[in-house]
Amino acid sequence: MYSQAKVIAGGLAHIPVVVAVFYFILTTFNKRALKFVEKTKVKKTEAKVAEPNKVAVSKTESSKVEAPKTEALKVVKKKHADVPVNIYRPKTPYEGTVIENYSLLKEGAIGRVNHITFDLKDSDPFLNYVEGQSIGIMPAGEDANGKPHKLRLYSIASTRHGDNFSGNTVSLCVRQLQYEKDGETINGVCSTYLCNIKAGDKVKITGPVGKEMLLPDEEDANIVMLATGTGIAPMRAYLRRMFEATEKEKNNWNFKGKAWLFMGAPKSANLLYEEDLQRYLTDYPDNFKYTKAISREQQNTKGGRMYIQDRVLESANELFNMIEDEKTHIYLCGLKGMEPGIDEAMTKAAEEKGLNWSELRPQLKKAGRWHVETY
Ligand code: FAD
Ligand code: A2P
Repeated sequence: MYSQAKVIAGGLAHIPVVVAVFYFILTTFNKRALKFVEKTKVKKTEAKVAEPNKVAVSKTESSKVEAPKTEALKVVKKKHADVPVNIYRPKTPYEGTVIENYSLLKEGAIGRVNHITFDLKDSDPFLNYVEGQSIGIMPAGEDANGKPHKLRLYSIASTRHGDNFSGNTVSLCVRQLQYEKDGETINGVCSTYLCNIKAGDKVKITGPVGKEMLLPDEEDANIVMLATGTGIAPMRAYLRRMFEATEKEKNNWNFKGKAWLFMGAPKSANLLYEEDLQRYLTDYPDNFKYTKAISREQQNTKGGRMYIQDRVLESANELFNMIEDEKTHIYLCGLKGMEPGIDEAMTKAAEEKGLNWSELRPQLKKAGRWHVETY
């Protein structure tokens, strides 16, 4: 039988054991709790570092890809996702070899306009492009500050299959810039360089760039083209794609719509690619219409120089019947100076049809049917 004193002594003897167990539980819990806090701290720091990046990425993305506002716009953006851009950049341009360089002008023409073709076959990665894009040219030599010349953009005048249909050339249509300053003739750096290069020369090429002037995929689209001077370059590519026999065999795209080219040139001798255009008129009278404004040989109704905007006004009714058809796209390329004149003509032409051009133009633009590249 236990005595009361023994029970008390036994109870007291267990105290250290209880304290030890209690201490063990407390430290284990504390260690775990500490680990949890550490882990949370690390995670929070990671999150702090990650957050700005996330924001930065989404900011850049959002500035790159504007949120599509309409279904039509969404479709346009999606369609162009596979168009090649910036395969070659200024720091590492492709050195293409000149295949040919010849004048596009006839006897008595004003200025100098050349057709120049470059070989792309040795480019790696391959420099491919589609109709309506541009390439950059970096002229040889240095500027007044001893720095390499900056690149200049030129609209591509060939189809993706190239002029010889081999699929590995690119062609340009270049006008030499020349103007008078203080009694002296100034020659544009890059355009003069390009007009003077010879077959076999190496030229630094960048790009391709641009998605503004691409053709729609639809074979029954209507294509209205408003060009001045070298603004014919992308239009030449479109028309070859539509009407050149070998091109049509290669591209599997059987154009069934109406193509209407308004072309502005100072003189008949300055009309570019005229023989090809006449051939397309003969071969495709139902699909191709060609209206010229020869500024220094023809006069508008006011007795001034005939410009393409005067021709647009003459054809207002027919043109706006086409524009009202949602399969019609309009392309404007060439002199920047023609834009106000074209706008004015479109305003008048629209009025004649009871339409408001200042409302219609943004709608066409939004729908991806109004394409402008002027310089
Ligand atoms: P620069 O030596 O760069 O001289 C141009 C500068 O000279 C101007 O910036 C201006 O400061 C000055 N200047 C020009 N005219 C005058 C004047 N009358 N009086 C006083 N100063 C003047 N060109 C083509 O030939 N074909 C094309 O297909 C083509 N496509 C283009 C596509 C795009 C998207 C762009 C943006 C441009 C295109 N250009 C095209 C124009 C081309 O890029 C060059 O701007 C053009 O060839 C002139 O370049 P340059 O080096 O010869 O002239
Ligand atoms: P012009 O020079 O007679 O005034 P190019 O590039 O071969 O010189 O051709 C450009 C064509 O565009 C020329 O016929 C030129 O006429 C014409 N042009 C010049 N200014 C305008 C303008 N503001 N609007 C439309 N066409 C223009």
